[in-house]
Amino acid sequence: MLRALSDGEFHSGEALAQRFDVSRASVWNALQAAQAAGAVLHKVRGRGYRLSGGASWLDVATLQRLPGVAAYTLDIVDSIDSTNAELMRRALAGAPHGSCLAAEIQHAGRGRRGRTWHSVPGGSLTFSVLWRFNQGISALSGLSLAVGVALLRSLREFGAAELQLKWPNDVLWQYRKLAGILIEVQGDVMGPSVAIIGIGINLQLPTAVREEIDQSVTDLAEILNDRLDRNALLGSLLRHLGEVMAAFEAHGLHALRDEWLAAHAYHDKLVRVLLANGAELCGKIVELTEDGALVLENADGQRSRVNSGEVHLTRRMA
Ligand code: BTN
Repeated sequence: MLRALSDGEFHSGEALAQRFDVSRASVWNALQAAQAAGAVLHKVRGRGYRLSGGASWLDVATLQRLPGVAAYTLDIVDSIDSTNAELMRRALAGAPHGSCLAAEIQHAGRGRRGRTWHSVPGGSLTFSVLWRFNQGISALSGLSLAVGVALLRSLREFGAAELQLKWPNDVLWQYRKLAGILIEVQGDVMGPSVAIIGIGINLQLPTAVREEIDQSVTDLAEILNDRLDRNALLGSLLRHLGEVMAAFEAHGLHALRDEWLAAHAYHDKLVRVLLANGAELCGKIVELTEDGALVLENADGQRSRVNSGEVHLTRRMA
C-alpha cells in the first residue's frame, strides 16, 4: 500500500480497497501499521491518504542496471527484524559471498553496543552485505573503518560535503550522526570467516523519530537540498563497497588509512572512551594503528590502545 502512495498524491480509502481487493477497514489497519513503523501519512476527510513527500522504493531490476552492482546477489524485502540478523542466519545456512539484503522496514534494527537502530519506511536506507574471507577473524580488525571510507566516497558523490568519521565508523555531519555501520563476524581464528556488514543511513527522519534517538542525528534531506533516489544511492554504496573491500583484502587497512584519517572528526582531540567492560579511559587521540585501533595519550604522556569502545569528546583530562 505504501508503494501505491509513493507518488505523494491523495488516494481515497475506497480506491485503495478496490485496488488491493480488501475492505476499507483493512486499508485503515495497514496504514496504521505503516504509521507505527514511522511512515508519515496525512489523512484528509473526503480526499483520503497521502504519503508525505512521496517515496522512492528499492527495486532489484533498477539496481541491477547500475554499475558495480552485478557482483552482488540482491534481495529486497518489505519488512524484516534486522537485515544483519537475517543475513547472518542465511550465511550460516550457506548464502553466497556478496549476498546483499535490503529492507524497507526493519522492526528490530540493531545498532552498535546493543542499541536499537531507528529507521522509517522510505526515509532510511537499511541493508547488509555478506562477505566471506579465507583469513580468520583477527585479520578483520580494520574492516569497520574501511567500510566507513566506502560510505564517505559514495555520499560525497551525491554532493554531501563536510562529512566526517567518528571512530570506528559513524558518519557525522556537523558532529551529528548521519549513518552507522554494524559489522558482525563469525568464524575461526585461523579462518575461514564471514562478516555481515550492516549499513544504516538516515535519508529523511521525521521529528518524532529523531526524538526517540538518544544522540544528535541528521539526515541527507538536511545536508542536500535535493531529494535523493534511494536506488541510485544503494547502487553507489555497493560499488564503492566493492572497491574498498578489494583494497582491504589486498592490503588491509593500510591502503585506506590516510583517507580515513583525513576525515577523522576527533583527531588530536581530548576524548573519554567507554570501554566494553564499563571502564573509562581519558586522553588525547594521537594515533590510529595499522589495524584500526585508536591510541590515546593521557596527561602523564602514557599511551593506551583502544580496540573497541565508545568515544565522547571531553573538555579536560580526568
Ligand atoms: C550503529 O550503531 O551506528 C550501527 C547501526 C547499523 C544499522 C544497520 S541498518 C542495516 C543493518 N541491520 C541492522 O539491524 N543494523 C544494521
